[in-house]
Order: sequence, then structure tokens, then C-alpha cells
Amino acid sequence: MKDYSEYFKAPSLKEARHRGKDDIHHIDDAYEIPADMVGIGKGQKYYIQTYGCQANERDSETLAGILESMGYEEATDIKEAQVVLLNTCAIRENAEEKVFGKIGYLKNLKRTHPDLIFGVCGCMTQEEVVVKKILEKYPQIDLIFGTHNIHRLPVLLKQAMLEKEMVLEVWSKEGDVIENLPSHRAHRYKAWVNIMYGCDKFCTYCIVPYTRGKERSRLKEEILEEVNELVQQGYKEITLLGQNVNSYGHDIYDDYNFASLLHDVSLTGIDRIRFTTSHPWEFSDDMIEAIATHDNIMPAIHLPVQSGNTEILKKMGRRYTREDYLTLFDKIKVRIPDCTITTDIIVGFPGETDEQFEDTMSLYEHCSYDLAYTFIYSPRDGTPAAKMKDDIDKHTKEQRLYRLNDLVTEKAYQNNLIYQDQIVEVLVEGTSKRDDTMLTGYTKHQKLVNFKGNNDHIGQIVKVKITEVKTWALKGEEVE
Ligand code: SAH
Ligand code: SF4
Ligand code: F3S
Repeated sequence: MKDYSEYFKAPSLKEARHRGKDDIHHIDDAYEIPADMVGIGKGQKYYIQTYGCQANERDSETLAGILESMGYEEATDIKEAQVVLLNTCAIRENAEEKVFGKIGYLKNLKRTHPDLIFGVCGCMTQEEVVVKKILEKYPQIDLIFGTHNIHRLPVLLKQAMLEKEMVLEVWSKEGDVIENLPSHRAHRYKAWVNIMYGCDKFCTYCIVPYTRGKERSRLKEEILEEVNELVQQGYKEITLLGQNVNSYGHDIYDDYNFASLLHDVSLTGIDRIRFTTSHPWEFSDDMIEAIATHDNIMPAIHLPVQSGNTEILKKMGRRYTREDYLTLFDKIKVRIPDCTITTDIIVGFPGETDEQFEDTMSLYEHCSYDLAYTFIYSPRDGTPAAKMKDDIDKHTKEQRLYRLNDLVTEKAYQNNLIYQDQIVEVLVEGTSKRDDTMLTGYTKHQKLVNFKGNNDHIGQIVKVKITEVKTWALKGEEVE
């Protein structure tokens, strides 16, 4: 295959794997709009399609903010847009297939709208194999940029407008923290707040440490300022985001950590605080205390276990045993009895035997999770697990997933039954998409509630009596 690296700034997994001792730079003035790009989007529209996790959702808000600061407006239909960005996810093969399907569809759109600027960004662009495939097969793409290059969008867009060649800029560096970027938030009452970027855990199956760079924390002052602004703007709920929030602060502070941050964020007075994702490793007692003692930290924790078998956990590089996990789980439930706990599970990891899978089932029984995101293992190029023998046939993997999902559904329903006839607090997000006579929102425990209530209460926290319990949602009526 042709070597494009001399023409473009292309990604390198080898560079992305590197973790040096260099200080992380917190940069306030990296973002600028070139003089001739100011107002360039006036009268034009953009469309961003987001795949993957909340980190990508938050990045898309930044991309939207940048485009709007150049004058573009959001398009409701992709066909109206002059700039289309796909913010991609690389976590599993099927995530990538979806994106390639969309790229195929957009090929036709580009034919009928030749002036359209078509860009691809996000985690997939950090992978060499993906960028090579795009260069070879999808010349209709005008712009490829990586997760470390978001603040460069105005400059890259300019190049894409002026040049006939595809513009490619993907830095495989460990990463900086770029502040002061504009953003257009997706929701009016709940907001994502990044507290750290990247991941240094290198679980053997996972691509994220390569696509997102080194673990690096934002300064606590920057985070608290953002939360205070959100409070002033009327936001009721924030979710603190990081691949591993437990590691917050380790890279920049000696004696300030995630528990300290939870405490300080709680004092801003925001009604609801959530966080994701907390790794079972380094989930400290101080974190449990903070959640237990502050009323505005929600009793709902996402605690991905991945497998219930210690040997598989070791092969996954997860840094805890089945027993460690159960000890932590039980400790949380003792200190915060009403806490809901959700999880992520991978089935069919290389070498997983029937007995090892049964350990996952029995752990699930014990924990009786409120919800789980379950996945069939997907080998990711460049990760250590991809070199292990993937010896479990597709049928067995699927059967394990079906059995697990049946248990997930059963437990979700059983756990919801305690809410029948109870009064719960719901942050009203708006009218239900399926039925506009119903309002919709989430409880403290992150349960979806559809209910009859007063439309004037959208954006407020109201009391709802639960009249019907379903597996994935509760139904009710507003009281008072
Ligand atoms: N930082 C988070 C997870 C982010 S990825 C954490 O550590 O919990 C979200 C989930 O995707 C993971 O928890 C895992 O269950 C799943 N996942 C990641 N890589 C995968 C792969 N190669 N195959 C299948 N599932 C995977
Ligand atoms: Fe991936 Fe593990 Fe990091 Fe989570 S902690 S992002 S699963 S490497
Ligand atoms: Fe996907 Fe990247 Fe998130 S790979 S899950 S979008 S960090």
C-alpha cells in the first residue's frame, strides 16, 4: 500500500501507545479562527452525526460550538448542510461498520451536492488501518482530523475549502488539555462536563488508550468554573466525564483527587451530579463517603465488571479479581443501600471457557444489576488481545450473549418493581418522543419515567407517583 505519511499528518498506533514523563500542557489560547474564516458560515448549515460514548457527545458539542462561532447554523436534515461531520467510534467492529455504511450513503449526497465539505473525525481517525482504507476507497471525503485536533477545525476547514486534495491531520501525541473552546450543548437542563481526557489503563481488548491519548486532568478551577456557569444558566444536572474518573488529579495534584472534586462540585449547589466511568480499581472509600454524604451526588454508579472470572479479568488486564469486585460492590451497597449499580460485560473474550462464562452469570445473579451493557468481544487492531487466539466460535459467543441478556432483562424488571406506587423525583426533560401528551425524564437512580404532568414544569425536578412498572421504563403521574 502507498505510504501517505510524507503528504499528510497521518496517525500512528506505535506513537499513540507511548506514555512519556513529559508534563501535560494546559493551553488556554490554542483556539483561533483565521481572519478570513470569521463569518464564513453565514447563511450555511452544518450537520454532525455522533457515534460512541459521552466523550464523543461532548466533543460534538464543541465541534458544533466552533462551527457556530464561524456563522454556521445547525441543519435538521443532512441534505441541507454545507458541512457534514461524522464523529466516529472505534470501540468495536460493528461501530466502525456503521460509520462505513454512512460514508457509503454520503458518497451519493456528495455527488448531488459537490460543494459539500465532508469530514470524518473521532476515534476511528486515530487508527492507521481506518485512515488507509479511507484514503484508498473513499476519496469523496474532504477532511480527516483526530481527537487531538478538534480545536484546529477552523484552520482545517479553510484548507479543505481551498485545496482539492483531501486534508488529513491526526496527531498521535499523548495529548494536552485545551481550554476555552466554544460549545453548543445538546441539552438545556443536563450537561456533560469533562474532568479528564485519555486513558492509561490499557485493558488488553481496548482501543481507547490509543485513540484518546494519555490520562490528563483538567484543572479543578476550570471544572468548577464550568459547573458554576451551568448553575447560573439554569442547568439542573451535570455528568462528570472521564474514561476513569477515579484517576482524576493523579497527574497534576499531590493531595487532590476525585473524592475532593466530588466534594467541591457538590458545594456549587447544582441539583444533580453524576459521573462516568468509574473503574472498580482505585474506587476509594473517600469516593463512597462523598456519594453517601452529599445529597446532590446521585446514588447511581456505573461500575463495569467486564467478566466474573478472575483468570479472564487477568487476561483482560483489569487489575482486580472477582473477589475484589464483589467486596467493593458489597461495600457500596452497605454504605449506600439504595444505590443502583449498572455495569458493562464482554462475552467471548479469547479463551473464555463455559465455566468461566458461568462465573459471569453467577456474579450477575449476586449483583442483580439494574442495567448492563453487554458486548461480544471484538478484536481491535494493535491491542494485545488481538494477538491472542480468538478460539470461541460465533455461535457460542451469541448463545452466551443471549443467555446473559435474558438475565439482564429479568433483573431490570425485578429491580423496577420496588417503585410501584412510590413517589419519585424526576428531572423533566421534555415531552415524550412517542407520545407528546406525556412528559419524560429520569429519577435520581437514573430510571426513565414517562408520565402525565404539567408542561410548564419542563426543566424542573417534580414528584411523580409510579403507576406502572416496565422493564426499561416506569410510568406515572405528577403529584401536587
Ligand atoms: N472507560 C470505560 C469503558 C469505555 S468503553 C471503562 O473502563 O469502564 C465501554 C465498554 O465497551 C467497555 O466497558 C467494554 O465493556 C466495551 N468494550 C471495550 N472494548 C471492547 C472490545 N474490544 N470488544 C467488545 N467490547 C468492548
Ligand atoms: Fe478501555 Fe480499560 Fe481504559 Fe476503560 S479503562 S477506556 S476499558 S482501557
Ligand atoms: Fe468509542 Fe472513542 Fe468513546 S472509541 S467509546 S468514542 S472514547
